[in-house]
Amino acid sequence: MKIQDSVCFVSGANRGIGLEFARALLLRGAARVYAGMRETSHFSELGVVPVALDLHDMESVMAAADRCGDVNLLINNAGVAYVAQSVLDPAILSDARAMFETNYFGTMRVTQAFAPALLRNAPGAILNVLSIASWIAGPALAAYSASKSAEWSFTNALRIELADTRVEVSALHMGFVDTDLTRGMEVVKLSPQDVVRIALDGLEQGMAEIIADEGTRAVKHSLGSPGAAYLNPPPIH
Ligand SMILES: NC(=O)c1ccc[n+]([C@@H]2O[C@H](COP(=O)([O-])OP(=O)(O)OC[C@H]3O[C@@H](n4cnc5c(N)ncnc54)[C@H](OP(=O)(O)O)[C@@H]3O)[C@@H](O)[C@H]2O)c1
Repeated sequence: MKIQDSVCFVSGANRGIGLEFARALLLRGAARVYAGMRETSHFSELGVVPVALDLHDMESVMAAADRCGDVNLLINNAGVAYVAQSVLDPAILSDARAMFETNYFGTMRVTQAFAPALLRNAPGAILNVLSIASWIAGPALAAYSASKSAEWSFTNALRIELADTRVEVSALHMGFVDTDLTRGMEVVKLSPQDVVRIALDGLEQGMAEIIADEGTRAVKHSLGSPGAAYLNPPPIH
């Protein structure tokens, strides 16, 4: 899709990758960029329109969709990740539920609420921000990975459902990115700017699946092989 003159809604755009998306969309000529966030009162970013949005609350999601009826690009970016020690620890059940509530059910809620506007305002697109964790899991991020795999599955089904419309559906996958979400993790991190540039280039080229780094590409390519990365992932996963 063409970003020039588009009207965009980015969830979780008060910080991190979402804020970077909002800035980059404006620089690429978007006519309007709405930034969905839980707390709008402290937000100030030239040209970006803050909109109240809590992914857990259907009323809030519907109100955001009503307010932003001119949107033709939805970026489902908001997400959470809680790290655990062991998949056998019963305490991870509550974190797992919380991650599914945001990453999977939240993305589904926002997509359903914005779908009528997206179909009305087409051509346009939906970009879901997923992860290398859609394809590999380990004890530390097991439930996060499951929530991203579920979100990937939803994205694939949505793409099929919307295939005969002019709303393209795309998924973004990448490894660790330097944001609050990975603070304190001793790992190599991508810059949010690089990830967003690759994502928006992919979106403009109509790519169904956008992979932002070589590590993630290698994991995906390995999936059908005897040495598949999910059988022996790097220790942090
Ligand atoms: N950082 C990475 O290494 C990495 C790698 C792969 C994929 N991702 C994915 O990229 C996306 C953005 O991550 P990030 O690194 O930018 O994380 P971040 O800096 O922690 O930002 C997360 C954003 O999501 C918002 N959010 C969380 N729960 C919400 C809810 N219930 N309703 C509305 N907004 C909510 C946060 O809002 P508040 O400020 O109100 O908390 C914040 O704006 C996520 O989907 C994440 O899974 C990240």
